[in-house]
Amino acid sequence: MSVSKQTAIGFAGAQAQQLPLVLDTAPETSLEAKFKTNDERFAETPTILIVDHVESNRQRLKAMLPLNSYQIVEATRPSDAFEILEKHKIDLVIADFLMQEMNGPDFCRMLKKNRKTQLTPVLIVTSLQGSEIEIAIFDSGADEFLVKPLQPTLVRTRVRGLLHNKALTDSLDEAESILFALAQSVEQRDPHTGKHCERLAVYGVMLGKALGLSRRDQLALYRGGFLHDIGKVGIPDAILFKRGRLTEAEWETMRIHTTRGEEICCRMKTLAPVLPIIRSHHERWNGSGYPDGLRENEIPLLARILQVADIYDALTTARPYKPAYTPEHAVQVLLDETQRGWRDPELVALFADLTRKGLPEVAAESPSATGTRQSLDALRLELIR
Ligand SMILES: [Fe+2]
Repeated sequence: MSVSKQTAIGFAGAQAQQLPLVLDTAPETSLEAKFKTNDERFAETPTILIVDHVESNRQRLKAMLPLNSYQIVEATRPSDAFEILEKHKIDLVIADFLMQEMNGPDFCRMLKKNRKTQLTPVLIVTSLQGSEIEIAIFDSGADEFLVKPLQPTLVRTRVRGLLHNKALTDSLDEAESILFALAQSVEQRDPHTGKHCERLAVYGVMLGKALGLSRRDQLALYRGGFLHDIGKVGIPDAILFKRGRLTEAEWETMRIHTTRGEEICCRMKTLAPVLPIIRSHHERWNGSGYPDGLRENEIPLLARILQVADIYDALTTARPYKPAYTPEHAVQVLLDETQRGWRDPELVALFADLTRKGLPEVAAESPSATGTRQSLDALRLELIR
């Protein structure tokens, strides 16, 4: 009997709803056995878990996915899905908004809270529409959603995009993934920064390209956008979010985030090009920055680049203590700081020029910014290719 890679390889706890199996093996005796068989056979094939209590929905979804490209696993209830996810490597979860036991967003929220599954992309399918539904879906941490009736082309495009993303995440080694997740959690401590890291990654790469830097340097800038402040993980909220002036002792603690960040990341060989960014992104052109008081070209170029992007983004983002500056105002502040001797004059001039031509759009708050996600994915793909 032939073997189809698009094969229903398991219903957790739902024997009565077994889909026709196309396997050249003995009849399955348990979910575990089914997985073992298929895991061995299709180790390289992405696995998609569909969670929906309506069989016809699962069948329809499966029929839209290209044969031979994916393994499909199915669960009728979230509790069954958790069991599958606990034991097996799943590359994408597609869940219906309306399910038994809990709704799709609550299910997704639980996945995203679990370290093991937090990086697994989740696509929610819904027949409900409206901004409230959309907000509920993305508030839960879901990566994408699709509205019924499903369009096969759209389903395939979304699935392909999410699996690309997952493959990239997998390509980082586990420790690096944890570091990125840690960096994201640091960013998420501040609800006012929005997509700060994403914007830094985009602006940094844009400047790197304008300077003709190598792909390796551009990738370092991309990663630096996410990792540069990872050392803040150890800084108390009382200091990090203090309104008003920090005391000298508090500043001392704050400054440590540069060296602590370097310590966190320095054991990872692949992050070696990012370390100068993490350590030196608060240096100043005239030597008055920290942690080393480096001057001018002693400051690593990548750190100077990220610094300009970092300051610009902080200025153009609204914070509780200040409104969002216009791009013109932010550039003027950068130019003023250059006059004071703090910034690299050539770099600021280049950035000002690029800003006048228009920076890439990176949506600040809207989690439904599919375009942003796709362009970030495309950028990352381009850099690691
Ligand atoms: Fe910093």
